[in-house]
Amino acid sequence: MVENRIVSDTVSPEDASLELSVRPSSFTNYIGQEQVKHNLKIFIEAAKIREESLDHVLLYGPPGLGKTTLAGIIAAEMNVQLKTTSGPAIERAGDLAAILTALSPGDVLFIDEIHRLNRAVEEVLYSAMEDFCLDIVIGKGEGARSIRIDLPPFTLVGATTRAGALSAPLRDRFGVLCRLEYYETEELAKIITRTADIFGIEVVESAALEIAKRSRGTPRIANRLLRRVRDFAQVQGNDYIDLEITNNALDQLQVDKQGLDHIDHKLLLSMIEKYRGGPVGVETISATIGEEVTTVEEVYEPYLLQIGFIQRTPRGRVVTDLAYRHFKMEVPKD
Ligand code: ADE
Repeated sequence: MVENRIVSDTVSPEDASLELSVRPSSFTNYIGQEQVKHNLKIFIEAAKIREESLDHVLLYGPPGLGKTTLAGIIAAEMNVQLKTTSGPAIERAGDLAAILTALSPGDVLFIDEIHRLNRAVEEVLYSAMEDFCLDIVIGKGEGARSIRIDLPPFTLVGATTRAGALSAPLRDRFGVLCRLEYYETEELAKIITRTADIFGIEVVESAALEIAKRSRGTPRIANRLLRRVRDFAQVQGNDYIDLEITNNALDQLQVDKQGLDHIDHKLLLSMIEKYRGGPVGVETISATIGEEVTTVEEVYEPYLLQIGFIQRTPRGRVVTDLAYRHFKMEVPKD
């Protein structure tokens, strides 16, 4: 169901190829996340002066904010290769050993969704991160023995949407922790203008700002909406995107003025209508709207919390007055 969502935070194949083509390749053309960029630049420069590999970096925050892009930029700025994998893709300790032993000195290994590594793999990663070596047990029972393999120094860049789901020993092995924030409207408008430029289509400033406002603080969504608006413009025979086409396209796509789509509406309205605005547990909300609990927690809720439409309380989620006003509904009196 997530896949059909225009403001979904998951990556479609179309997104993946688009992201590759418009992804900034250096800090210079990476817009936003100023604090993170500023710090990373210093750590990278210092590592280069010392001629060492960069310390391990953990990037965390909501999906679509540019964690993979930053990993690529870190590798490019360090002049090393980037190797990419993900938590669920590394099934056994041996898979990780194969990846690590194939690295060249200084390389960046990017592990997306690092909170999804299994225990056995995670334990092998500890000594790899700390001492650049692998302790692997071969054989079983009586004949089992442990061998140690030295690794080239490398930088692990881990990315997660759920820093809290990382085990403490793994989290503690990252020297650099970077929390990515939702983007400001103006930053998103700049990203949209940059992407439109790469596409070879003009977007007027008011239109870029309107797309930005409806992009939930997320570049991946901004670029996706831009593509859809471009479709509307081109079918109308326009070689530029103006505010009228933008409003029309986004309304047709049922992305409202705050960037909420029909699933956000369903979530909020079912909380209001069925549970009198809460408090209601996330399991109940998920069952009511037919979505997985983790999808509600990691994809839908973060932005609704961020814009203050829902709040978390010990007894469950509650809809705020702001959300009632968004739907032009009377705010209930307690
Ligand atoms: N495209 C996606 N994210 C971007 C960013 N932060 N800066 C520039 N272009 C982008």
